[in-house]
Amino acid sequence: MSLIEKAAAKLKKNESLVERAAKKLKDVSATEGDKSVSVNENSSMTSLETKRLNEKTKPVATMARVKLDLKVLQQKNILTSDDVENSMTTEEFRIIKRSLLLRAFSKGEAAIKNGNIVLVTSTQPDEGKTFCAVSLALSMAQERDLTVLLVDADVAKPDVLHTLGVKGSKGLIDVIENKDMDLSECLIRTNIPNLTILPAGKKHKLTTELLASERMGEIIDEIARRYHDRIIIIDAPPVLASSAASVLALHVGQILFVVEAERTREEELNDAFKMIDKCKNINLLLNKARFAGGKKKFGSYYGYGYN
Ligand SMILES: Nc1ncnc2c1ncn2[C@@H]1O[C@H](COP(=O)(O)OP(=O)(O)O)[C@@H](O)[C@H]1O
Ligand SMILES: [Mg+2]
Repeated sequence: MSLIEKAAAKLKKNESLVERAAKKLKDVSATEGDKSVSVNENSSMTSLETKRLNEKTKPVATMARVKLDLKVLQQKNILTSDDVENSMTTEEFRIIKRSLLLRAFSKGEAAIKNGNIVLVTSTQPDEGKTFCAVSLALSMAQERDLTVLLVDADVAKPDVLHTLGVKGSKGLIDVIENKDMDLSECLIRTNIPNLTILPAGKKHKLTTELLASERMGEIIDEIARRYHDRIIIIDAPPVLASSAASVLALHVGQILFVVEAERTREEELNDAFKMIDKCKNINLLLNKARFAGGKKKFGSYYGYGYN
């Protein structure tokens, strides 16, 4: 090879290096742009691995936000107000939350598996589960250094958003139904900094079956793992109306069982307890107890730990 031929070959080689570098740069910027990873046809990656990789690089969805009307919540006795009559209910929830929190984060021998997940249920509809779950969540969210996730799992009668006076769309049902959907896509932030909501989501005709499914258990376990430093309040369906509550009871550390004064029957209570007895920490809350005299109509008494 002549000297000139050698120089030409070298130049050509350099050119291809530059070309390769330029191509590499182009590839990188294309990947950054759509935040998804393209996989070479000859790659040995399985489609599952590819999906996981794409999932990791998905743009982070901004969390939905709602503004709770704190004045309205005070009028409904859900949030503490300066009015002494109204503040009685919220004072009662302060007492309730103390013992739940104590068990939620107890350490050592007293530690309870998934103790930070509290299931709120009762025997029948309308006994006050949502009222108590929301009141408790708001009371807990006022604690410093405590983050609260309120989950609406009563998909047949999803009232959490309505009780809080806000609207939402995606939720628990959508995550159960759609394996590709991440839990975080459905969370809603509120103007109470420590409070996040996971709504029930869209109505589905297979709802009860879905909620009582293995997948539901997986999701609760995932919530427990991911948000182990939070307190999670689940507004559950009534025990005697669907099998979902007893499935949920398998995955939570504590149950707050709402008993409606002058309404819930003892036989029903005994039947319900048999269905949720896998959870060893069941606390009873006597709700809607009437007060003799005074303007206050309802109260919530708490106690009678059931084991
Ligand atoms: N302690 C309470 N004080 C005032 N109203 C209450 C109380 N508990 C329940 N209610 C009201 O009773 C009705 C039924 O309660 P709700 O929480 O929706 O029942 P559930 O969730 O068990 O179906 C609602 O209108 C709720 O506001
Ligand atoms: Mg309800």
